[in-house]
Amino acid sequence: MTASELRQKYLKFFADRGHKIISSASLLPENDPTVLFTTAGMHPLVPYLMGENHPSGQRLVDAQKCVRTDDIDEVGDATHHTFFEMMGNWSLGDYFKKESIAWSWEFLTSAEGLNLNPALLAVSVFAGDGDAPFDEESYNLWLEAGVPAERIAKLPKKNNWWGPAGQSGPCGPDTEIFYWSGKEDEVPASFNDDHDLWVEIWNNVFMQYFKNTEGKFNLLQQKNVDTGLGLERVTAILNHCDNYQTDLFWPIIQKIEHLSAKKYLSDGGTTRSMRIVADHLKASVFIIGDPRGVTPSNIGQGYVVRRLLRRAIVQAGRLDINTKTDLNWLNDIVFVIIDIYAEAYPELAENRDAIMQAVIQEAEKFQRTLENGLKEFDKIVVENNLVKGQDVFNLFQSYGFPWELSEELALEKGWRIDRQGFEQELAKHQELSRTASAGKFKGGLADHSVETTRLHTAAHLLLAALRQVLGDHVVQKGSNITAERLRFDFSHPEKMTSEQKSEVEALVNEAISKKLKVSFEEISLTDAKESGATGVFDSKYGEMVKVYTVGHDNGEEQRNWDDIFSREICGGPHVESLADLGHFKLIKEEASSAGVRRIKAILEY
Ligand code: ALA
Repeated sequence: MTASELRQKYLKFFADRGHKIISSASLLPENDPTVLFTTAGMHPLVPYLMGENHPSGQRLVDAQKCVRTDDIDEVGDATHHTFFEMMGNWSLGDYFKKESIAWSWEFLTSAEGLNLNPALLAVSVFAGDGDAPFDEESYNLWLEAGVPAERIAKLPKKNNWWGPAGQSGPCGPDTEIFYWSGKEDEVPASFNDDHDLWVEIWNNVFMQYFKNTEGKFNLLQQKNVDTGLGLERVTAILNHCDNYQTDLFWPIIQKIEHLSAKKYLSDGGTTRSMRIVADHLKASVFIIGDPRGVTPSNIGQGYVVRRLLRRAIVQAGRLDINTKTDLNWLNDIVFVIIDIYAEAYPELAENRDAIMQAVIQEAEKFQRTLENGLKEFDKIVVENNLVKGQDVFNLFQSYGFPWELSEELALEKGWRIDRQGFEQELAKHQELSRTASAGKFKGGLADHSVETTRLHTAAHLLLAALRQVLGDHVVQKGSNITAERLRFDFSHPEKMTSEQKSEVEALVNEAISKKLKVSFEEISLTDAKESGATGVFDSKYGEMVKVYTVGHDNGEEQRNWDDIFSREICGGPHVESLADLGHFKLIKEEASSAGVRRIKAILEY
């Protein structure tokens, strides 16, 4: 079974059980300042898990693009990836444990689903602790489904609890399903999650709590189900191969084999290098090609792409791919990646030129600094055969060396590098850059307080005013909103004049003085587009979206309002009227990155 077939089968199985198929959201979160990337399917759905109404209803199913970089050093083995797809079915205050467990089992073991041998499956449930009791209900439901008791492990929070993607958020006990990936006749009778050959394939989270910023667990009013099934892993299991031999990777590996004249699994490090090149380039293509994509830089999301690309280039060099004089190899691989995902993620093909350009530019930049960096490396003085963290950081900062490259050069001389010292220097630098407001910041709202919500509405007014004053080329590139101020990145090639800034301020304040109404409607994406709404159109199933309008309420449908100031696709929340928004004031307008400007603004009362 190919990955596309699996994706379709999963979506259909749950669509047949009343779930609405929704598109993958952007990889770069809009409304969560606590993380750089979407790390799980639940992430873009947090407002709905907390009780906002989802325009597509209470039962949803999707395949979500995710990036996780915590395990970046593990990439190179058979199963770890930085980019992956998580399939998930969702109950937003609708069904709970009973249906969730029954459907998971049915999907995995029935002919309508994946037809996996039940004898090769095992599960785990939450054992209970001071925060929440043993999940007896799930335990009994698994027994009812036919799973023998010795294949149901009771495990602690470390294993069977899904925490929020950031520091606070919805969470709860989970139950995980494992598949025996070893020989069939060697499957152990009992299960305790203590054997590498048991591969976790599906996680069903029963979200009943909200963890607040102080780390306290409060019961959520609405009980949700959040599940995650790893597309890469399950495709591999179904095809009895490793993740890189599935159709999601194999064409990339073949291309790398061709470019390097080496064979996958022939080894001496070849396999690891090939996997890293394939994984990292794929993640880079998805991050740059996202509707909210970013290009390589020295901070935040841009730094992650830079690191991924440079690590990939270093590994390609190890494979003897000519990375120095000819960059066509990069184009070749990017083409293959886009091809694999052309149907599922059309944005990649649409952004093909921009992706290529960003990748090549980064490779050229890296090359320019490589030689000087090598000279610098030779000047390093070491004590006890250890390269200081500060030196590794300088090589990174001035010559763009990923630490892996310094480590490799150090190893050649019989030295080690101080990784921890490097990470500390890097963290210090990133903190400084953040306060200097350089580069791309994480997007979103810090919280849903009244002040933050007001500034969120002000951000919509700001975008509308910028488009009126500067032109329709202005699109939002990011936002970060706290109770005190809003920061807003937008595309515009040059510094704004003081007249333009005053005009923008005046337009926003005029809208506020008119006490315009703010309200939302849930309409189809096509209608949203036709009505002139701005925002990220990252939907492909024609599902409903939420559109917020600021305008003069004449009692009609919003699309017919005669005095519309702003219309944006957005999940909310917003104030209902501009009546007590206060006075809008621009504090700063400055460059953020190439072609992107940043505004800092406040509301005064
Ligand atoms: N949110 C759960 C996970 O990522 C499903 O594993």
